[in-house]
Amino acid sequence: MIKLGVNIDHIATLRQARMEDFPSPLKAASVCEKAGADSITTHLREDRRHIQDRDIFEIKESLRTRLNFEMAACDEIVQIALKVQPYSVCIVPEKRQEVTTEGGLDVFSQKKRLSEIVKKLRDTGIIVSMFIDPEIKQIEACADIKADAVEIHTGKYAQLFKINSPDVNSELERIKQASIAATERKLIFNAGHGLDYKNVSKICEMKNLNELNIGFAILAQALFDGLEKAVGDMKEILSQY
Ligand code: PXP
Repeated sequence: MIKLGVNIDHIATLRQARMEDFPSPLKAASVCEKAGADSITTHLREDRRHIQDRDIFEIKESLRTRLNFEMAACDEIVQIALKVQPYSVCIVPEKRQEVTTEGGLDVFSQKKRLSEIVKKLRDTGIIVSMFIDPEIKQIEACADIKADAVEIHTGKYAQLFKINSPDVNSELERIKQASIAATERKLIFNAGHGLDYKNVSKICEMKNLNELNIGFAILAQALFDGLEKAVGDMKEILSQY
């Protein structure tokens, strides 16, 4: 069955908007787990706009499932990841001005630097994933630097789906080819970004899909339905594949 990782960053976005001590990402993680989430994802951004350092340590301590730690490939955050020892990390590109992670990481152009980071993390037993666009040359680069997994950026697919564009099919084909290339190279195949209750099904049809990481759509739905139901409803969709 396809696993569901729930990204809880936006619980912290809400908290930081008022510099309060609630709502608690820790409590959210626990509710998500109760509702069937297979892992919890959080992104400690360099600008600390939502999740804070103490959140990561507290969440790691309290989780019964797995912590997937999203991070930029920078020394400060690598040191934190080594201390936290999450189950997995997902290395993402990070730009200060962006609203969210806008594109995949260019692994191909930074193989030497990234392979050193991957080694450091893997040597301590952390599973390392790379957040990339669905491009074969990026998949090959991930295999070359000995990453364990790839997470394919589905943001472009989600945008095309929303406007009902005919180009959605070619983007789905790109993701499918990426899944085949990843599997051939023994890379774990994950996906995420921009996925919601309507557009997720087409991605679920991909073969060898291990896990989806979904945040914004679930937390937005939780405002009306509650977090437990919002997670449970997404789990229900994934369980059909
Ligand atoms: N995967 C990665 C690597 C991300 O950076 C994000 C966004 O933080 C997500 C998944 C979740 O995206 P969304 O919030 O659009 O579901």
